[in-house]
Amino acid sequence: MKNEKLKIGVFDSGLGGLTVVKALSQVIKGADIFYVADTKNAPYGEKTPEQILQYSLDITQYLIETHEINALILACNTATSFAIKKLRALYPNLIIIGTEPGVKPALEQTKTGKIGVLATPATLQGEKYQALVKQLSEGKDVVLYEQACPGLVEQIERGDIACDTTKTLLNSWLSPMKKNSVDTIVLGCTHYPLVSGVIESIMDGDIRLIETGSAIAKRLLTLSQNIGHKNEGELSIFIHHTDIINVESIDSILIDYTLI
Ligand code: DGL
Repeated sequence: MKNEKLKIGVFDSGLGGLTVVKALSQVIKGADIFYVADTKNAPYGEKTPEQILQYSLDITQYLIETHEINALILACNTATSFAIKKLRALYPNLIIIGTEPGVKPALEQTKTGKIGVLATPATLQGEKYQALVKQLSEGKDVVLYEQACPGLVEQIERGDIACDTTKTLLNSWLSPMKKNSVDTIVLGCTHYPLVSGVIESIMDGDIRLIETGSAIAKRLLTLSQNIGHKNEGELSIFIHHTDIINVESIDSILIDYTLI
């Protein structure tokens, strides 16, 4: 990268990946972040593997051709599941970091051995997640309560966070976890930290929520410093969206950004 500015492409189906951008903004300096919110194709979690791969390839090509990125973050568990392997094969010189449900930190932190995993239907069905769980939990005395949350991403995209519908949906998904003494919940979709307050109140605050934004930021810092990034100076955030987006929601996540 020598003397070039660090240009980071980040994408998700919508607002969710901004929870990762927020974590990046707390660690990364002297870089430009180009974020794509693919609201035209949201929710990814209810699409086919082929569709999710194609959206990811198209966005990556746009980020490389238009913004000349030298690092790519898939700020989406669903896209990571179906596209990261192909992207790494196509762009071996690009730093590429994906997002995976934080099953590992959950296993380290649980006391009851009962862990909830909330994710999109596609992520939970994907081979990547199945392999991760097998590798990490086999032979351990833990129970995973996995719950797909269809419809939740749409609620969040509309900004309907604390409304009755969102509460009712979450209540029905979380009740079995509450009954079974789950003490740790993996937020396996980058949208879900945006409803963490609702989750905590349903679980009576007695819960550890695991998200992975800050681990991604640390990893990017290490990999970018390895290729000469100095991590000094201003960070600029540019947001591109492929269809309508709820600007009030962006404002509730990020302080300083430019819509492009
Ligand atoms: N935020 C994404 C994820 O982490 C995608 C959600 C969706 O569009 O279904 O999986």
